[in-house]
Amino acid sequence: MFPEIDRILVTREQIAQRVQAMAGEIVRDLKADLAKDGHTELDEDRIVIIPIMTGAMIFVADLVRELPMKLSLGLVAVSSYPGESVTSKGAHLASELPEDLEGKHIIVLDDILDSGQTLATVKGLIEEQHPASLRMGVMLDKKTNRTVDVHVDYVGFEIPDEFVVGYGLDFNGYYRNYPEIAVLKPDLIPSR
Ligand code: IMP
Ligand code: MG
Repeated sequence: MFPEIDRILVTREQIAQRVQAMAGEIVRDLKADLAKDGHTELDEDRIVIIPIMTGAMIFVADLVRELPMKLSLGLVAVSSYPGESVTSKGAHLASELPEDLEGKHIIVLDDILDSGQTLATVKGLIEEQHPASLRMGVMLDKKTNRTVDVHVDYVGFEIPDEFVVGYGLDFNGYYRNYPEIAVLKPDLIPSR
């Protein structure tokens, strides 16, 4: 089915286990936030999950179904690796952010943290709206590649500096539907 895949870095079983554990951490933190505000988890309109499209869609689809709370989703699209790029070309918003984030508890989620530009950009823009709290989570962290200092509250797995696909991550738009996190055959990846 996927002859271009070289090897698997994280299996779907490992992903599923980690997603469940991360959901537990998120629920714990959000409940504490709401309690501090004098709200309960049933109060309306307090929690907004912001997936960074398109890469975060599979991760977020799995994660939000493990969050037994009232929440809404506010998508934002960011483009940084156009086409066959395998290094960041600088993050820029490809869609508007939700505009009603003031006083809300926000969790921004992305597939992978690499240079840090994507999350730093989104974080700055959300902070301008004065949310009650803002946390960020990623499925994967390529720690060695950071060019911008950005703090994430939830990390699925730390991985080495390799270009990965699957579980939402693409190369040139493809392989997002591959269910595990994998490395492509070296001859397919333009040298960086
Ligand atoms: P950053 O802005 O450099 O931190 O990059 C984050 C974005 O780059 C992610 O949202 C991904 O869309 C993309 N990206 C970074 N590394 C990879 C990778 O190994 N495979 C696929 N996409 C990646
Ligand atoms: Mg992305």
